Amino acid sequence: MKFFVDTAELNDIRELASTGLLDGVTTNPSLIAKSGRDFKETIAEICKVVSGPVSAEVAATDYDGMMREAEVLRKIAAHVTIKVPMTLDGLKACKALTGDGTMVNVTLCFSANQALLAAKAGATFVSPFIGRLDDIGLDGMELIREIRAIYDNYDDFRTDILAASIRTVNHVRDAALIGADVATVPPAILKALVKHPLTDAGLTQFVADWKKTGQSIL
Ligand code: E4P
Repeated sequence: MKFFVDTAELNDIRELASTGLLDGVTTNPSLIAKSGRDFKETIAEICKVVSGPVSAEVAATDYDGMMREAEVLRKIAAHVTIKVPMTLDGLKACKALTGDGTMVNVTLCFSANQALLAAKAGATFVSPFIGRLDDIGLDGMELIREIRAIYDNYDDFRTDILAASIRTVNHVRDAALIGADVATVPPAILKALVKHPLTDAGLTQFVADWKKTGQSIL
């Protein structure tokens, strides 16, 4: 499973990239607004830190507008992934852009049929939003399961399932169990994946016992 971080905060991205565990980045208009920074500058800076796919979302909702914006965004770096909404115009833009060799992430996916269309449109990634489905009392993980089953039925589908709107460490585990190709995870949850109280307690004990030996490895 690949790990993307779901943020536009450069400090978090730098810190996580330095671990070698980060495969890419996703942003969206809300995350850009939260950062308070210039969109194109931010994407350019992220692209210098991370060499994997960096999702930058179009703001237009019509095909022509999306294509014009995509033209600007994809010039920022070869690994910019154009994020388009799950609409007919978005899927049309997806088809045109992927046909041109550009990576595309179809976002705001909330049903298996939508994911089927994204694959038909040649999307590089489809982003099913787990947390937002859970928020309204539905089962976000069930959607990941359905999409995995559908995609596995067809050898010609090349779209990666990018589990999005992840709110808990259990979302990451469950998406991995089902076989999502990628999880895009908020920085705090990515860092929380390493935590376990028995690891902390075990390490404290080992450090204390090592001191008792009076030895030094160096
Ligand atoms: C990812 O690409 C999405 O923009 C993101 O995961 C949405 O997460 P949220 O539902 O927590 O806003």
